[in-house]
Amino acid sequence: VREPDLAGRHVVVSAGGTREPLDPVRFLGNRSSGKQGYALARTAAARGARVTLVAANASMPDPAGVDVVPVGTAVELREAVLRAAADADAVVMAAAVADFRPSAYATGKIKKKDGEEPAPIALVRNPDILAEISGARARSGQVVVGFAAETDDVLANGRAKLKRKGCDLLVVNEVGERKTFGSEENEAVVLGADGSETPVAHGPKEALADTVWDLVARRLG
Ligand code: C5P
Repeated sequence: VREPDLAGRHVVVSAGGTREPLDPVRFLGNRSSGKQGYALARTAAARGARVTLVAANASMPDPAGVDVVPVGTAVELREAVLRAAADADAVVMAAAVADFRPSAYATGKIKKKDGEEPAPIALVRNPDILAEISGARARSGQVVVGFAAETDDVLANGRAKLKRKGCDLLVVNEVGERKTFGSEENEAVVLGADGSETPVAHGPKEALADTVWDLVARRLG
């Protein structure tokens, strides 16, 4: 049983992975399952928060008592997060947002033509939502949390990213050969803009979620 330490708070969580369409049937996407974001939404609700879950292409049932806003692309995710953040006490960006999207969308299915080379796919940059909400907070005192996956120099790269994004907390996962990939569990270090470093031992995604909410609750006072 969790303490209702987020009662009266509105928190926004983004989860899943964006899909950037090329034509009506194809997209550029990523392998994010959305499990960590859903665990964050469930645990925040269990701690008494009103939760808005901006879910990008996650094929999981809506968590009980959570307001789910389904989105597809990074641009849609940005709009939903900015709208929900306006009255939020905390925003946690757990979604894997595509850094780039195809510069053009074909309204009809792209066809292969005999004897012709495939056309290259031109990309344009997506907005960095985490940096945007960190730089221009919707409310004063709002706590903003980002996620980062790093393969090497985890702490140094994490610190640099925390500074670049301007968020309050950054959850850094080590990914790569030595770490179990595609696991149900997670292992991370949560870096704070105040210089703090909170290691989270290998375990269920709920445990990491609770550590994040502990750190958020402390900052909300
Ligand atoms: O820069 P990088 O993609 O490693 O940063 C990861 C963090 O930034 C995640 O919290 C992710 O949700 C967020 N992000 C974002 N907008 C982007 C790219 C990443 O908000 N375009």
